[in-house]
Amino acid sequence: MDQQAHILILPFPAQGHIKPMLSLAALLCQAGLHVTFLNTDHNHHRLTHREALSTRFPTLHFESISDGLPTDHPRTFQHGGDQIISAIKSVTKPLFREMLADFGRKSELPITCVIADGIMSFAIDVAKELGICGITFRTFSACCLWAYFCLSKLIEEGLQLPVGGDDDMDQMVTGVPSMDGVLRRRDLPGTCRRQPDDPLSQFFIEETKAMTRASALILNTFDDLEAPILSHIAPLFPKVYTIGPLNALLRSRLGDDLSLSLSSSSSLWEADRSCIKWLDSQPLRSVIYVSFGSLVMLTHGQILEFWHGLVDSGKPFLWVIPIRRGAGAEQEILEELQAGTGEMGFLVDWAPQEEVLAHPSVGGFLTHSGWNSTLEGIVAGTPMICWPQIADQLINSRWVSEVWKVGLDMKDKCDRSTIKEMIRTLMEGRGRGEIIRSMNQLANSAHVCVREGGSSCHNLEKLIEDIRKL
Ligand code: UDX
Repeated sequence: MDQQAHILILPFPAQGHIKPMLSLAALLCQAGLHVTFLNTDHNHHRLTHREALSTRFPTLHFESISDGLPTDHPRTFQHGGDQIISAIKSVTKPLFREMLADFGRKSELPITCVIADGIMSFAIDVAKELGICGITFRTFSACCLWAYFCLSKLIEEGLQLPVGGDDDMDQMVTGVPSMDGVLRRRDLPGTCRRQPDDPLSQFFIEETKAMTRASALILNTFDDLEAPILSHIAPLFPKVYTIGPLNALLRSRLGDDLSLSLSSSSSLWEADRSCIKWLDSQPLRSVIYVSFGSLVMLTHGQILEFWHGLVDSGKPFLWVIPIRRGAGAEQEILEELQAGTGEMGFLVDWAPQEEVLAHPSVGGFLTHSGWNSTLEGIVAGTPMICWPQIADQLINSRWVSEVWKVGLDMKDKCDRSTIKEMIRTLMEGRGRGEIIRSMNQLANSAHVCVREGGSSCHNLEKLIEDIRKL
């Protein structure tokens, strides 16, 4: 076992960031490296399987740090996203500097490398100040990252923000290499729908520029999936390690049982496993699984449109309705909807998603196109309907439908008749065969790249080797 290398991993405090970064932590520990996984105090307590994880991976340690917000803060992007980012800068950053310096002074095993979330650039700067190698890990797709890199230039060349309102949203955006003819205004990252001086818009643009101060970039993607885009990003960093899909890489290295247990251990909510029993009773490939990740919030009206669309489609459905996450739905609505749904559907507040996607009864995935969900859908070979709402989701969904052709894009629509038609088209329409063929090919290349000799497997080994040399 390597006694020298000690990596500190710092995710942004949200589910879609913690999960892939914890997967990477497990892979590094599996290789014998020491990892300290640093969550905010708030999320540290919600990650209830920490002890089990440390038992399974003895070189994995958990630490926590304040996010600078009061205990009763909702900590959602919709309710105070700008407060989250400003508290991280003003409170977490100085604490982080102290903590990292303390590791150097007091610990027998000083930190040799910091792997910080791609939107936590302060950690890269602090690491550099202290003479420690800083690697940035952007949990988004490469296509979204590339769009962010090109955004300032697009604005200089006349792109007016916010897009929307009276704009022709289907107008093509020109000037983003490798995206001509695909990227429309409608598909630009979610921040482009905000005012240019909005703190969250500024944050994403600034954080993207700041990433290039890192010694290397890690992406949860694979070369076959985003090769043309990766060729533009590669020259911006001394090194780029594409090591995705991380869930498939975990499965290939740790086996099915351990990787699925790691997936549920990295959840901030306890999954309702009763849905697996319900899935067992459904016909092969008949069910549409509906989940909008951990951040998207639905209004009461949107919930009703989805419910009617799902019921009218005549297809059985499993729907993750984010009740406990305060996402605009209340317990009574859930009970009312469940009662009205009867045997046709099953509603839960958090599902064991990877297990659900791999279940033989599931034939389609209605998703918000979060990057983890997109990759998990690809790995499971499940065709998708995309209903993106924020951030990278808007561009991911375009790539799903237009570039990879493994799903349909329902962006900017939310009425029961469109929802019904989309589900019917995906589950039984004439185009399904074509989508399934593309999906099978893509799923196959995802599995090949994580096997011995595959690109992601090779890049992980290179990353481990490079960290060991520090
Ligand atoms: C968001 C962004 O949309 C995403 O693209 C970015 O990279 C990180 O922040 P989120 O909205 O949470 O993330 O979506 P996603 O990236 O899909 O991550 C959600 C994760 O939660 C997935 O790994 C999924 O498996 C898991 N999940 C979701 C469950 O385990 N159970 C559920 O019921 C729903």
